[in-house]
Amino acid sequence: MGRALAGRAPLTPAVVPTFHRVLPSAECVVGPPGETEFLAVQVGAADVLVTRMAAGHVVAFAADCPHQQTPLEGASFFEGKLRCGRHLYLYDLETGENVLPARDSSPEALRRLKPGYLPIHRVEERDGWIWVAEAPEPAPPCYDPAAERPLPAGSPPPPVVAPRPAAAAPGQAGGEPIVHQPESLDVRVGEEFQLVLATTPKPAHMWRSAVLAAGVAVVSEAFAPDQPPRHIARLVAHAPGEVEVRFTYGTPWGATPVETRSFLVRVAP
Ligand code: FES
Repeated sequence: MGRALAGRAPLTPAVVPTFHRVLPSAECVVGPPGETEFLAVQVGAADVLVTRMAAGHVVAFAADCPHQQTPLEGASFFEGKLRCGRHLYLYDLETGENVLPARDSSPEALRRLKPGYLPIHRVEERDGWIWVAEAPEPAPPCYDPAAERPLPAGSPPPPVVAPRPAAAAPGQAGGEPIVHQPESLDVRVGEEFQLVLATTPKPAHMWRSAVLAAGVAVVSEAFAPDQPPRHIARLVAHAPGEVEVRFTYGTPWGATPVETRSFLVRVAP
């Protein structure tokens, strides 16, 4: 059995990561602005996405969002950070750090929101190929799992935090929540139609719809990164009557919507 030499730290064997050759470099290129492509690859047992950053290097990361396991193939970029399409959390693709909501949350909100961190895999490019390490990198230093766990039973209640002032809403610099006068539109049974709302690319802010009666259903909703950006909801009418479709703008965790818009949809037979 070996023993440490006097005056020297014991030598620990270096862990050499196992790299897998996953793609020819030429297949992973910087996409046009707003159209980043995430390429799915299998690295050992891990499902991984790779993409080439605007700076030219390739990054590799877990294929599912650490928040609620949403596949990230349909994610987008916001100011250089990966934005999951489900709740718009932002992750840094160099470190895996959750940027939003983690940097913006009170301790009690963080326990509720549980953003975690995005596992990042090391990448090497050589001989015209992209190689990805099978094991993810360690968690980023700022990640503290204890900060996302519920408080132990019997802990004193967290201090009451005063609500933040309302965040800026689409078309407004900030201030009180806005509730618009309802608008109305006429459609026919079987008709597919769109409702388009002005929005902002503000991190983690989104419009969410609620259909307040049967007769109309939402087919899809998406953020369109046009100039100016828009939120586009596609709906279909399937029964005659009057239906209110309400949109609220804010963060998924915000108690009070920052802005509300309503549409009264009159569906003719
Ligand atoms: S599942 Fe990705 S942000 Fe919630």
